[in-house]
Amino acid sequence: MTIDLAALPQDFLWGTATSAYQIEGAVAEDGRSPSIWDTFSHTDAKIDNGDDGDLACDHYHRWREDIALMRQLGTNAYRLSVAWPRVMPGGVGPVNAKGLDFYDALIDALLAAGITPSVTLYHWDLPQVLQDRGGWPARDTAHHFAAYASAVAERLGDRVQHWTTLNEPLCSAWIGHLEGRMAPGLRDLTAAVRASYHLLLGHGLAAQAVRAAASGARVGIVNNLSDVVPATDRPEDIAAARRHDGHTNRWWLDPVHGRGFPADMREVYGVELPEHPGDLATIAQPLDWLGLNYYFPSAIADDPTGPAPRTRTVRRPGVPRTGIDWEVDAAGIERLLLRLTHDYGARELYVTENGAAYPDAVRPDGTVDDPERTAYLEQHLAACVSATRKGVPLAGYFAWSLLDNFEWAYGYDQRFGLVHVDYGTQRRTVKGSGLRYAEIIRAYASRGRSAA
Ligand code: FCB
Repeated sequence: MTIDLAALPQDFLWGTATSAYQIEGAVAEDGRSPSIWDTFSHTDAKIDNGDDGDLACDHYHRWREDIALMRQLGTNAYRLSVAWPRVMPGGVGPVNAKGLDFYDALIDALLAAGITPSVTLYHWDLPQVLQDRGGWPARDTAHHFAAYASAVAERLGDRVQHWTTLNEPLCSAWIGHLEGRMAPGLRDLTAAVRASYHLLLGHGLAAQAVRAAASGARVGIVNNLSDVVPATDRPEDIAAARRHDGHTNRWWLDPVHGRGFPADMREVYGVELPEHPGDLATIAQPLDWLGLNYYFPSAIADDPTGPAPRTRTVRRPGVPRTGIDWEVDAAGIERLLLRLTHDYGARELYVTENGAAYPDAVRPDGTVDDPERTAYLEQHLAACVSATRKGVPLAGYFAWSLLDNFEWAYGYDQRFGLVHVDYGTQRRTVKGSGLRYAEIIRAYASRGRSAA
């Protein structure tokens, strides 16, 4: 498929994204303490095949090779996350210098390679010691997060401009505390609502802390939003879709935009918010940009007996699905980008994650052919370009992911990388989709931003 790149703005960031626990390995090295994901992945029957992140992609030792791969792809940006348990193994001070040294060297090498780092402070790896003290349902965790954020920004802020406080707080709160499919694995609505509140409070406090520690910091938050449609036109399903939209989108967007927590959802949850005077203003720190992670749309039906928000996702016949069984619909990314622009007044947007899992294999000739992922990438990039033409201020796109990696509860079976990883040998092989991404980036960089 040909993509007309001319509508993209100048200085567009072409990146890949990863997160610490999914790639680093080295879980007990240089003073790192366990996170809730170490605990969860070592709990029986939580992760497919009993996998864990102990070794992952061994990026902690192979990061130079991985930066070389980024250069091979021609990317000019890289979204990484810092592991809180490496930097503050006790959850609260003191700082572990060796933990920060790792990221310091990584940032220097990225910059030397002409790659702009985009640093996420929290991609789900809460130090277990803080979970033991109440985790996100406890207010103190938000303050500890800000202290950790400050320490990272003080060390890296002279070189890093692009900061994300939280990655997908929805997953931490709802999947981790309500559905129990992610760490810390709870099924408790009150804990989940309290966690959601303190995550957003932590976002606001961390935004302040990063700005205080690093002048010139540009701070944003990354959400995985859902393009929600009612499964049928029954009034119950339409109402359910509205609740699902509240649960996955508005609950996360409204408070950071100064609109408070949506009243309809407060009623659905029926849980009192642990609100202190001034919190809403803290949560609503001005944002320099917004990040959208997009994978699939959701057709939603009413589920009157299910847990809050009493909705269920319906399988739509005839809609293509990826290897992880997620629907493919590139129109969803465009609709969400337009919504962030029109309903939330976003002035700078990034697609901070987008990608697809398929079961790839290295062929005897040493190549990896992944036409479905390539098509997914092309369709979603074309939808981004189309959004740009309609006035969306899109400033960059980060493919998920640079490497195949530890896909949380799915373990290593689900491969999202533009680069294949053989977990037995740690050998990396750029897939066909990675080569196509490089070709698109080259076409953009050529004079006139030609089509690719
Ligand atoms: C997102 C996560 C990321 C990765 C992708 C597939 O929800 O942010 O870590 O697992 O999904």
